[in-house]
Amino acid sequence: MNAAAAKELPIGVFDSGVGGLTVLKALREAMPHEDLIYLGDTARLPYGTKSPASISRYAGQATALLQQRNIKLLVVACNTASAVALETLRSQMDPLPVIGVVEPGAAAAVAARPAGRHLVLATEATVCLGAYRNALVSRDSRAAVTELACELLVSLAEEGWNDGSIAESIVLRYLSELPDSAREPDSVILGCTHFPLLKGTFEAVFDDTVAIVDSASTTAVAANELLDELSLGREATGGGNLTLLATDGATRFARVGGQFLGEELTWRDIEVVDL
Ligand code: DGL
Repeated sequence: MNAAAAKELPIGVFDSGVGGLTVLKALREAMPHEDLIYLGDTARLPYGTKSPASISRYAGQATALLQQRNIKLLVVACNTASAVALETLRSQMDPLPVIGVVEPGAAAAVAARPAGRHLVLATEATVCLGAYRNALVSRDSRAAVTELACELLVSLAEEGWNDGSIAESIVLRYLSELPDSAREPDSVILGCTHFPLLKGTFEAVFDDTVAIVDSASTTAVAANELLDELSLGREATGGGNLTLLATDGATRFARVGGQFLGEELTWRDIEVVDL
C-alpha cells in the first residue's frame, strides 16, 4: 500500500466493553479528522476478574478482528488488557504500532506529582500484575505506589450511580482497606476505563490538593504524536467516521456507552460482531 493510502486507514480502539469510550472520546477530540473503529468485547466483560491467559486470548481475538478491518494503529483502551497483553498484541500487530493506556496514565501522574505518593485504583488483574507500579517506578524512582482493586466501581459506573452518598460510601469502604499512610496520596490514578465517570466522587472524597489523573487525554496525545512521527496522520480536514462494534447487546451498549461517550447512541449505531 502506498503512503497516501496508509494515512487514510482507520485507527482501531479496543476495550472489554463500553469503558474505553472515555478514551475514544479523547481520541476524537485530539484527532477529529481520523476515522475510528471501536470494538467493545461486551460478551466477555469484565476482563478485570479473569485470568491473564483468558484476557490475553480475548485481547488477541479482538485485535485480529480489527486487523481484518485494516487499521493503521491499535489503541488498547482497556487498562486490564494493556496491563496483561500489550507486548503480545505488539507482536501480533507488528510492524503496525500499538498504544496502551497504562504508560500514558503513569506518565501523566509522574508529571503531575514528581516524587509523589500515588494511589492506583484499578481492576484485580491490573493490580495483581503491578502494571502501574512498574510504569511509575521506571519513570520516577522516588515514586511511592499503592495499588487498590475496586471491582465494584465498574458496576457502579455502568449503572450510572456516579455521584452521591452511595458512590462515596463505596469508595470510602475500599479506602478503609488501606494502611493510614496510603490514605493521603499526592495523586489518585484512575487505572480503569470506568473510573473517570466517578471523578466527582473522587474529588469529594479526597482533599483538593490531590491530583486525580486519568489516562484518556494523555493516551490521545501519545497516539496523535505517534501518527505524526510515523507520517500516518490523515491529511483530510473533514470530520472522521466512527464505527462502533460490540460482541453482544447493541441496546445496552448504546444506553450505557452513550454516557461514557457523552453523546446519545441508539442500537442502530452499533454493529454486533462475533470474534
Ligand atoms: N476496561 C477495564 C479496564 O480498564 C474495566 C472493565 C473490565 O474489567 O473489563 O481495566
